[in-house]
This record gives sequence, structure tokens and C-alpha cells, in this order.
Amino acid sequence: MPLLIKNGRIITADADYHGDIYCAGEKITRIEDSIDPGSLPSDTEVINASGRYVFPGFVDPHVHVHLPFMGTFAKDDHESASRAAIVGGTTTYIEMICPAPDQEPMDAFNEWQGKAKDQSHCDYSFHLGVVRFDDLAREQIRRIVRDHGIASFKVFLAYKGALDISDENLFDLLSMGKELGVITTAHCENATAIAAMQQKLLSEGKTGPEWHEPSRPVRVEAEGVHHLATFAELTGAHVYAVHTSCAAAIEEARAAQARGVKLWVESVIPHFALDHTHAEQVNFEGAKYVMSPPLRDRANHDVLWAALASGVTSTVGTDHAPFDFNGQKDMGKDDFTLIPNGIPSIQERIDLLHTLGVKTGRIDLNTFVRVASTNAAQIFGLKGKGTISVGADADIVVYDPEHKHTLSAKTHQSQVDYNGFEGWEVTGRAETVTVRGKVMARDGGFVGDEPGRGRLIQREPTHF
Ligand code: URP
Ligand code: ZN
Ligand code: ZN
Repeated sequence: MPLLIKNGRIITADADYHGDIYCAGEKITRIEDSIDPGSLPSDTEVINASGRYVFPGFVDPHVHVHLPFMGTFAKDDHESASRAAIVGGTTTYIEMICPAPDQEPMDAFNEWQGKAKDQSHCDYSFHLGVVRFDDLAREQIRRIVRDHGIASFKVFLAYKGALDISDENLFDLLSMGKELGVITTAHCENATAIAAMQQKLLSEGKTGPEWHEPSRPVRVEAEGVHHLATFAELTGAHVYAVHTSCAAAIEEARAAQARGVKLWVESVIPHFALDHTHAEQVNFEGAKYVMSPPLRDRANHDVLWAALASGVTSTVGTDHAPFDFNGQKDMGKDDFTLIPNGIPSIQERIDLLHTLGVKTGRIDLNTFVRVASTNAAQIFGLKGKGTISVGADADIVVYDPEHKHTLSAKTHQSQVDYNGFEGWEVTGRAETVTVRGKVMARDGGFVGDEPGRGRLIQREPTHF
């Protein structure tokens, strides 16, 4: 059904104006000061956006949905994760394929795509995790890039013996990325240092979740970013540091960017909103707040916000990784290194960024759109996403900037049994959300009806 979004304040990464948007055939086909509904097909739905912001659909560049990890599986499937994403204003996400150490890349791609294909309500793509890099893997990785439009890799410098990549393989993979024009995203923490520090803490009887942060302090992450930047500089590859959490890591990234290294930076919403004291809560409550890199001292928050405003950091994602408190996080009751890592936030990201960033004046509305949508679409080659323009996909969020609501596990769409922001009041809500021209959320509630409507967005490599 065609759509007319009328009288909204349209905000993109570089514009802010009032106008009407007409969508037909899944695309935005007209944007004008005023479009007369009487001139449109009789089945056109008119959405009144007066007093509302009209944003491009938000893009989350870092989510985990199908995630075999630390002896268990993350709780969402694509039906619940994409429902949560859409209600929160996110219309496209990029999931990390995290293969087992000996799994063939093509098998991993098929496994992850098989989970998303008939389930996702929103559009999606994948970063291809690379854990093995022998001749067979090399050949399959080339085919996945060429035949399936997967134009980004993912490596872990952390998680020793599970997901981490050797320096030899990192160097070779980045060289391949340079040749193919594929950007490599990286979890930047030194796996060897973490493993040693974890063992030391455990041997001292320090077993609770409050010891997670001391086992991987800021220098461990700064070293990881420095390491990635050095290898990128030597190979000429384009790289992207995921979930950058602290001033020391931001400083390494800024220095690399200043000397011409093609390095983009992501931070994720838990690192702006929460701090290490959350992981220190008694009765094992802190386990809800164990993620990697860990929650940091609050002093880092100002640096993260400033990096968004200055452009050192390009994107704000979630690193949505949902593990239940009961039955999953408690696998690490006697040993913090066994607590499945992750703080879910796929539904909460946009409202938290709006409340903590825009409402406080830390970032302006154009920066908000840039870091939560446009930059991710551009860096990762998501054509048609991340902006409002004629010809773009009709992924649109009509946003009420004054609506107050309370975050809670009782009302969230994810299947996980807790909400790390339980009881927080936020200001702003995605009131109406469209995915390729179809209304999927109304009055902040999900109204989609066909799991599997979401499409794999095929991407072209651009990072030569
Ligand atoms: O704690 C986290 N971040 N869990 C998900 C896996 C990862 O490192 O991204
Ligand atoms: Zn990570
Ligand atoms: Zn992650």
C-alpha cells in the first residue's frame, strides 16, 4: 500500500527540514514541501507526522542473534530479535557470523543465513567471522564475498582458543581484504594478556563478576586497537574497531587515523549508559552486566561522546548478545570467566542514545542520525539504507521526541529474561516504523505479520 508521511520534520545526517514523503513500491518516490493526498492513489495510507521527527530507518552494525558462545546459545532468534529491533526503530542490522574453530566458512555462512532467511522481519546482512584461514577457507571466503554480497570480515583478537585469530592469519586476511576491497571489523583485546590475568585473579580466589573488568583493563583494549591499526597500516587494509569502550582505546584510534590509517571506530550503547559499578552489584546481579570489553569507569563516557561529535567514532551499535540471567549467566556463579558475555540492547539503543545524547546536548540531531544509521550504511555498503532521499528504501522512523516510557524485561520483545536498563525512564519513542514501505510498528507496538520478509542485503566491496 502506498504511504504518505505528512508534515514531519525530516532529519538526515546533513539536513533538517519540514516536508512530505511519498513511498510506493518499497521506495521513497517523492519528497516535497507539501503533497496533496487527493492527488494520490485512493489506497494511500496517510501518516500524520506533525510534531514528530522523521528519521531514516536506523542501522545496527553489530548484533548477535544466532550465537553459539561460551558453552551455550544466545536466547533470541531472528523473529524475536528483528521484532525488538523494529520496535526500537532499527530497520536493518548486521549480524556477526561466529564459526566454530574448525568450521568451513561456507558451512558457517549457510548456517547463519539459514537461521535468518525465513525469520527476520527486518533487512539484514552479515560480517563474516574468520577463525580458520587455510587454503580451503581462503577459496570459500572469496566465493562468499563474490556470490553472496558479504563485504566485511570479522576477527577476534580476544577469546583465546575459541574465536581468536593468530597474527599470521590476521596479516594474510587483511592482505586479502585489501585485494578484495573488503573491510575487516575486529574485536580488539589482547587474548594472551586476558587469559593470564584471568588465571591470576582466579588463583587469588577472585571469582565474582566484579573481577571481569580488572581481568581486561583499558590497556588490554588499547593494545588491541594499536595492534589492529599497525597491521592495517602494514597491509593497507581498511579496518573497523568494534565496541570501543574507553579513552585509552579511542586515543590509539585517533592517533592511527591522524597518521592516515584507514580505521573506523564503533562504540556500543552499553558503554555510554552503564559503568563498571553495575558489574559489581551483589548477589551475582553484576553478571547481567558482564560483556567484553567490560563496562568501564564513568570518566570514559565523556570521551566516548566527544569522539562521536568529533567524528573519530563513526557508529553506535549494540553488540546485542542476549543470555538469560537464570540458567546461562549463572554458569559462571563460581568463576567469572564462565559467565556468557553480553548485554542485550537491540530495542533500547535508539531511545537511550536520544535520551542520553540528544536530550542532554552531547550530540545534535544530525550526528544522532549519522552515528545510528547513515555511517553504518555507508561504511558497509548497504545501498538504499541510512538516508531519506528519492530512490532510497522506504525505511522510515516517525519519532516522538517527547514520549516518556520505562524500559523493562516485562515489555521488551527479546526472549532474554532480564533487561540491563530495568526501570530506566527514557524520552523518545519510535512511533511508526516502516521497512521497505510496509508499516511494521504503530504507536510503538509491533504490527508486522510475516517473519521472513526481511531480506539479505547484498553488498559490493568498496574498501580498496
Ligand atoms: O560481550 C560481548 N561483547 N559478547 C558478544 C561477543 C563479542 O565479543 O562481541
Ligand atoms: Zn566482541
Ligand atoms: Zn559482538
